[in-house]
Amino acid sequence: MYDVHEKPPEGATVHDLRSDTVTRPTDAMRRAMFDAPVGDDVYREDPSARALEARAAELTGKEAALFVPTGSMGNQVAMATWAGRHQSVLCERRAHVLLYEQGAMAALSGLHPEPLQGDADGCLEPDDVERALRPGPYDRVPVGLVAVECTHNVAGGSLPSLDKLSRIHGLARERGVPVHMDGARLFNAATGYGVPVAQVAAHTDSVMFCLSKGLGAPVGSMLCGPRDFIASALPMRKRFGGGMRQVGSLCAAGLHALEHHVERLSRDHANARALAVGLDLVEGLSIDPGAFPTNILYVSTAPEAAPRWADALRRHGVLIHAISHDSVRFVTHLDIADDAIPAILSRVAAAASEVAAEDA
Ligand SMILES: Cc1ncc(COP(=O)(O)O)c(C=O)c1O
Repeated sequence: MYDVHEKPPEGATVHDLRSDTVTRPTDAMRRAMFDAPVGDDVYREDPSARALEARAAELTGKEAALFVPTGSMGNQVAMATWAGRHQSVLCERRAHVLLYEQGAMAALSGLHPEPLQGDADGCLEPDDVERALRPGPYDRVPVGLVAVECTHNVAGGSLPSLDKLSRIHGLARERGVPVHMDGARLFNAATGYGVPVAQVAAHTDSVMFCLSKGLGAPVGSMLCGPRDFIASALPMRKRFGGGMRQVGSLCAAGLHALEHHVERLSRDHANARALAVGLDLVEGLSIDPGAFPTNILYVSTAPEAAPRWADALRRHGVLIHAISHDSVRFVTHLDIADDAIPAILSRVAAAASEVAAEDA
């Protein structure tokens, strides 16, 4: 159902709500990239990379940070650094690290995923974690890492309970097991909770966040954690093919994003709320507007109708993903202006008549 090759129609004004990864660098960001001092980062000589890593560590309240090309690589480097072959990774059953990273933890690192059912917000239940962490019989794979996700993408850009995350961290610590957070949208999470980023990251040993999603940079993610962990993650990043040379231009985009694109995330959340309220009024779509606290909306359609909605909306210059046969996803971001929401909703209304006519 989810077609990564979907392309915008030619020529039309397009509102692209498929993902927050589709943003283009602003002019100011491009200028920062152009002006960036660079050096060979495999030799650790890139001043812009050093500056970005220092800033990411500071913001997340961790000792050190490492620039990585993608969020997936950041998660995979983290898991391979914390845990070894024949250890398991406890994660939520809809986690990105489990479902959308090409099975890399097993394929590349010999790690065994151990999925648990989370709550409605995609948070692992502390009691389940506690049970899973107890030493088991010899035929069970010992747990080497607990992986959490915040915001949780598939649960709807949700905000896992900070209290549960804190309890999970405490339980894992008692067993000497580290906790890694896939914080691809960590800054959306902090905005949603209304707390500093470091307060969210405090509930984990390491955290990955993406610069290339809501923050609007073209490339890059940061892996943050204790100094000795990041020192080990550096050769691991090389092993995964992620040692890059003059990355300063990319890092300058990240620094610019951290300086200029964090406060505005609340606008993406407000736009998502306005969109949700409007979408719920459209015949054939249903959504609980209160259920999506950040920038990701999952909207229910009639059975088998989701691809028809995506096609009809494409014809009206609104791009979304059909996530399953009866669910479509809208994501707000930097390139969706506040005043675009009414225009998007009127295009959805026009598409609704076409979907209804097709179904008649
Ligand atoms: C929750 C989550 N984690 C990790 C990633 C991976 O990021 P990347 O696409 O940069 O590999 C994504 C991407 O959508 C994501 O949504």
